[in-house]
Amino acid sequence: METLQLAPESRGIETAAELLRAGQLVALPTETVYGLGGDATNGRAVAGIFAAKGRPSFNPLIVHVADVAAAQALAQWSETADALAEAFWPGPLTLVLPAREDAALSDLVRAGLPSVAIRVPAHPVAQALLRAARCPIAAPSANPSGQISPTRPEHVLAGLSGAIAAVMDAGPCAVGLESTIVGLAGPPTLLRPGGLSLDRIEQVLGTPLTAAGEGISAPGQLTSHYAPDAPLRLAATKADAGEVMIGFGRVAGTLTLSAAGDLTEAAANLFSVLHSANATGRPIAVAPIPETGLGIAINDRLRRAAAPRP
Ligand code: TXA
Ligand code: MG
Repeated sequence: METLQLAPESRGIETAAELLRAGQLVALPTETVYGLGGDATNGRAVAGIFAAKGRPSFNPLIVHVADVAAAQALAQWSETADALAEAFWPGPLTLVLPAREDAALSDLVRAGLPSVAIRVPAHPVAQALLRAARCPIAAPSANPSGQISPTRPEHVLAGLSGAIAAVMDAGPCAVGLESTIVGLAGPPTLLRPGGLSLDRIEQVLGTPLTAAGEGISAPGQLTSHYAPDAPLRLAATKADAGEVMIGFGRVAGTLTLSAAGDLTEAAANLFSVLHSANATGRPIAVAPIPETGLGIAINDRLRRAAAPRP
């Protein structure tokens, strides 16, 4: 794939919006860093983000929306959320809130968590693209996993040229540091320091932020975080008595991650299939998944799900 470089004016923005609506990936400028954007409602697009970054595990991603109303459609809103959004949105602040049951989001964007990370970016090109695309945009920093976050379109191309459909060519980012992440699922908690200073947040809250312990700040890393209620058996070629089977490729199951053996489809289906299997109340067996590409992240999550409970 040849990565298009799009000018940040109306035609470039319309092209980028069409690509996003078609499930393609577009790197977009925000005031913090360039984001690797995909339609947050489209599981395959979100799986494509992990594939393009070469992330070996599925961390939950930040969902970008145009305004508070769009955030309220995705998350359970609160007075604290309102105060922080009023003070700092649009801007370099991400709020982690309990997701709404009816939120139209792929399970993968939240990595199966009950909460969702949301922010309203201030960059005018990000704003214009969100309005043109009319979908929430999932966007981690637009760099291959483990590399430095990009603050210029050249950085994006150096890492991801050929792996994404387009990059908006909008010059350097003003902040250059990722957004500050505040968790509001319980007492206000600092999940990641970033481009918005703590004192300014604490001034609005009127109280100090709780510092998250190791692990809480990286929910995806908690070993048994994804554990279903019943035991889960890996690399199964057929179900034992009483088990519900999750298939992949030629290994069939009552449920399947991808009958076609497609890892992108499997990633997009992973969390919803685990939820469905869990809902049966039976022990779960999962077909072998190749340890390549997105299969590495899928196996990482499945191993966590299979790990002994603490
Ligand atoms: O400035 C930024 O925030 C950039 C630009 C592109 O907006 N984006 C960014 O996204 O840094 P990303 O995906 O690299 O960072 C996501 C962070 C991770 O540390 C993840 O653990 C946390 O957000 N996160 C996402 N959802 C979460 C949730 N439900 N609970 C706790 N942490 C969450
Ligand atoms: Mg990053």
